[in-house]
Amino acid sequence: MPEFNFDALRRAPDVEAPNLFAVDPTDRFILDEAAELIEAAPAGSVVVANDRYGALALGAIAVHGARAVRVHQDAYSGELALRRNAEAQGVESSAFRSMDVEPTLVDGARVVLLQLPRQLYALDELAALIARAADPDVVVIAGGRIKHMSLAMNEVLSKYFGDVRVSRARQKSRLLIASKPRVVGAATAGAGAGAGAGADADGTTTGTATGEDAKGRSPLTLASRHDAALDLWVAAAGAAFGGTRVDIGTRFLLEFLPDMAPDAHHAIDLGCGTGILATSLARARPELRVTATDQSAAAVRSARETARLNGVEDRVEVVRDDALASQPDASADLIVLNPPFHVGSTVHAGIALKLFADASRVLKPGGELWTVWNTHLGYRPALERLVGPTEQCGRNTKFTVTRSRAVGELVSN
Ligand SMILES: C[S@@+](CC[C@H](N)C(=O)[O-])C[C@H]1O[C@@H](n2cnc3c(N)ncnc32)[C@H](O)[C@@H]1O
Repeated sequence: MPEFNFDALRRAPDVEAPNLFAVDPTDRFILDEAAELIEAAPAGSVVVANDRYGALALGAIAVHGARAVRVHQDAYSGELALRRNAEAQGVESSAFRSMDVEPTLVDGARVVLLQLPRQLYALDELAALIARAADPDVVVIAGGRIKHMSLAMNEVLSKYFGDVRVSRARQKSRLLIASKPRVVGAATAGAGAGAGAGADADGTTTGTATGEDAKGRSPLTLASRHDAALDLWVAAAGAAFGGTRVDIGTRFLLEFLPDMAPDAHHAIDLGCGTGILATSLARARPELRVTATDQSAAAVRSARETARLNGVEDRVEVVRDDALASQPDASADLIVLNPPFHVGSTVHAGIALKLFADASRVLKPGGELWTVWNTHLGYRPALERLVGPTEQCGRNTKFTVTRSRAVGELVSN
């Protein structure tokens, strides 16, 4: 195996730019701190969670000799980057296995390496799972950039672990090292996790787990909340955008639902998050076949549950995908999109442009892309260039809603 080179790691197929990095000082800090534990851990007992582009998993394998590593990455593009980076660095694909957030991810784990997720709910979901299913001697080494960390993270970990230690700072990163797991109620995923059964003050309820797995452990349940204005149930797993709340941009875009491609047969909710747009479309238009895609594993779980809670699961197909990679050219009549403007914690337009270009490829000639965006982002020229003629259909104090008509030929990026 050639010598492992962190600096050669790439983000592709995620957006690449001079100010966006595939590895950060937190990855190296976590690996250095965990070195002895990883080296002493039996095969199959090292778990990596929230690895961005594979630095943690590949570092554990190539530098510290971990074997049969289980890896969870919420973003599908991160999973693809891990595979590409492994190949480029000569790490065999059998050295790791990508998994969703499920009990088997952490079953019997002795060492868990974790890039702290931004959402507390996502941390809660993982910590609950580790406490329930990992080895009683498990040590969790969780790290983050100090500017993105909060005391609430210590509190979440302290709920599930008897011992939580805070490291010194190193290159603007810090570690939280947790051990002595304790089991706290049922593992409940998503917004509202930890609120207990029933509804919390803002109406979030915890869902009901159906059945148990082979070892008699309850599967994760998703939090859900009824939005009275839309009369819509929204389910959310830990890392899903917006939790169980309806984003105000999404709410504005929904006002235009009756105007969207009235003769459409196939619609796509691109970057579906918790599936609010997909479910609303399916519910309002019974003749429509709806595909919901998102690269986030948590979003996919959430969107499936949102569709189910609103009785349209048979008409909403939810796919985990990087943009629309699995959708054929010229196959959709309508695409709805509330694009992300963050890449990780960095504000970056690249991801929205990538989604516009893929929407253009997948729309039939004359098909419509409906987009809502923060007006200050000024996406209209990009939509004109990448998709086709674009008109403003609505504007409020914060957001603009546009309809772009595909011209039937690929527009250069
Ligand atoms: C602003 S949120 C909108 C979520 C949802 N449509 C809504 O309106 O509530 C943007 C979504 O795009 C997803 N996303 C980001 N990059 C993506 C990619 N490359 N492919 C697919 N989805 C992506 C994010 O995971 C996130 O769920």
